[in-house]
Amino acid sequence: MDDNVWLDRREVPVIVVHGGAWVKPGIVTEPVLEGLQRAAEAGFAVLDRGGMALDAVEAAVVVLEEDPHFNAGRGSTLTSDGTVEMDASMMDGRTLDAGAVASVAGVRNPIRLARRVLHDSDHLLLAGEGAQRFARGHGVEMAPVDWHVTPEQRARFEELKQEAGARPDRRKLGTVGAVAADVHGHVAAATSTGGTAFKRPGRVGDSPLIGAGTYADDTSGAASATGHGESIIKVVLTKTACDLMGSGKSPLEASKEAVSLLGSRARGEGGIILVSPDGRAGWAMNTPRMSRALFRRGMPGPIARV
Ligand code: GLY
Repeated sequence: MDDNVWLDRREVPVIVVHGGAWVKPGIVTEPVLEGLQRAAEAGFAVLDRGGMALDAVEAAVVVLEEDPHFNAGRGSTLTSDGTVEMDASMMDGRTLDAGAVASVAGVRNPIRLARRVLHDSDHLLLAGEGAQRFARGHGVEMAPVDWHVTPEQRARFEELKQEAGARPDRRKLGTVGAVAADVHGHVAAATSTGGTAFKRPGRVGDSPLIGAGTYADDTSGAASATGHGESIIKVVLTKTACDLMGSGKSPLEASKEAVSLLGSRARGEGGIILVSPDGRAGWAMNTPRMSRALFRRGMPGPIARV
């Protein structure tokens, strides 16, 4: 069946996940598809028992953060210092409440920390050592700093270090994200990343920025972005896409238009996933590949694509 038939259906609950733009073809494809299917199943299980979209997107992103094939949580890229600095955010379409963390290390699942920031702090975005202290103080699971570093990312760091005048690698990003619409008519979005490979320490991309990497509003829809963060920020990609849905575009139309703007106005590369509160979904990218999966009521299982 044509993917658009599944995407364009007005039926809840539904979850869409992505595993980033610029996925490497060949050997990593199967584990990436399997990881996305497991993530979509975890999120859908929450929705199917009447759970909230916010819980569903968190459950899906945790699966992808635990999976070393994605650039988020375990498997994150390394900075030019050889360290891990992770970003994550989530947003609740019911209230516009959001939680985000930037440049954190040693936190097993940055998206769980973003959830605690949303619920248990007076702030929206916490960064660095302050965010880590907040995590320890709120019982968020920590991990040894090296737990997040996979042999593949260490090798890639060594490769980039050898290149004279190495610059952050914009390509092969594996940022992860999820958007969902629940049976109560609410939407939510979540995004998590290790950022660009060989980034300057302290660099923060779009993923923890509300409106850039993540946005959700019950009056329009929910969106999560992947791709070159500096470009995504310039066109506030997820808010732009949600505004397009709010003005009457379908998620498919809005995703295409937003990604087209990313290319034409910011010369940026990336992709986006969207859902509307009535359960329609959309995705688009201007990179050769973006890994993604969708699971909605009525399907025997998730469909996953790279
Ligand atoms: N989109 C992820 C990043 O640029 O950090």
